[in-house]
Amino acid sequence: MGRLTPLESQVYNDGERFIPGVTHNLPELVRHRSSYELYKELIAADLAGSERSEPVTIVDLGSGAGWGVAILATIPGVHVTGVDVSAEAVKYAEEEHGAANITFEVHDLAKYVPDMPTFDYVVSRGALEHVVDGLNLAAGAKWRERLIIDVPYDEAYDENHHHELIHIKEEHFEAYESPSFFYEGMDGAIGLAVGDVEDCNMIGCVCSREGLPLLADVIAFPRAPWAPGENEASELYAWKRKRNSFFRRLRRFLRGKR
Ligand SMILES: C[S@@+](CC[C@H](N)C(=O)[O-])C[C@H]1O[C@@H](n2cnc3c(N)ncnc32)[C@H](O)[C@@H]1O
Repeated sequence: MGRLTPLESQVYNDGERFIPGVTHNLPELVRHRSSYELYKELIAADLAGSERSEPVTIVDLGSGAGWGVAILATIPGVHVTGVDVSAEAVKYAEEEHGAANITFEVHDLAKYVPDMPTFDYVVSRGALEHVVDGLNLAAGAKWRERLIIDVPYDEAYDENHHHELIHIKEEHFEAYESPSFFYEGMDGAIGLAVGDVEDCNMIGCVCSREGLPLLADVIAFPRAPWAPGENEASELYAWKRKRNSFFRRLRRFLRGKR
């Protein structure tokens, strides 16, 4: 990891958050990104051919540095809200990924979820284990179409000091109605059973409104890891991200001056 800016350092917070191209190596980017790409594919498949005039609403609970929100926001016709308890993470997310169809908000999920507005999709990646009773809390989230989440699978207690929940397995999803499980390997591959992936790292769960096809009927499993483009695979990725980010912020600043 290269030298972090003061804001990047606050966002990273001793390993709490992932910033693509800044804090971790390429295999970590592939692993993290493979989850959000699965979410995107499932939602995009639901919406294919939809003629809704209003945007489809998605909320990402525990959106961190906001890069996952930006991926979901590329689905045509959606508005994505990222919610995180960290004001620094939300500031960073707004600076890096602000767009017309994206909103970032600072909230503590413990207070937000019980009274949250209803979204078409509620998603969360690698965040609910950071929240006391986070799995049961998210089971009460308000959604119309699907709830899609993942958390570390059967993690030992000393693996990450930011985690409140450990040793999560299928039986901890009791509060979820008709969950479909999926499993993610350390390499980013995703399958429908623990044994379908090597070195299972995350367990995912999808709950769907009646009438929607099941996960297994929409996505082909086992699912290959997300493949980085030439840009992400390049040694210069971090440098290019910083350069692009600088010009993005400069453009935004100059637009504001007009
Ligand atoms: C490991 S990060 C995951 C971020 C993002 N989903 C990703 O995959 O990069 C966990 C996030 O959960 C957030 N978080 C932890 N406790 C929270 C709470 N009580 N309310 C809202 N967000 C919380 C943290 O601030 C952090 O950004």
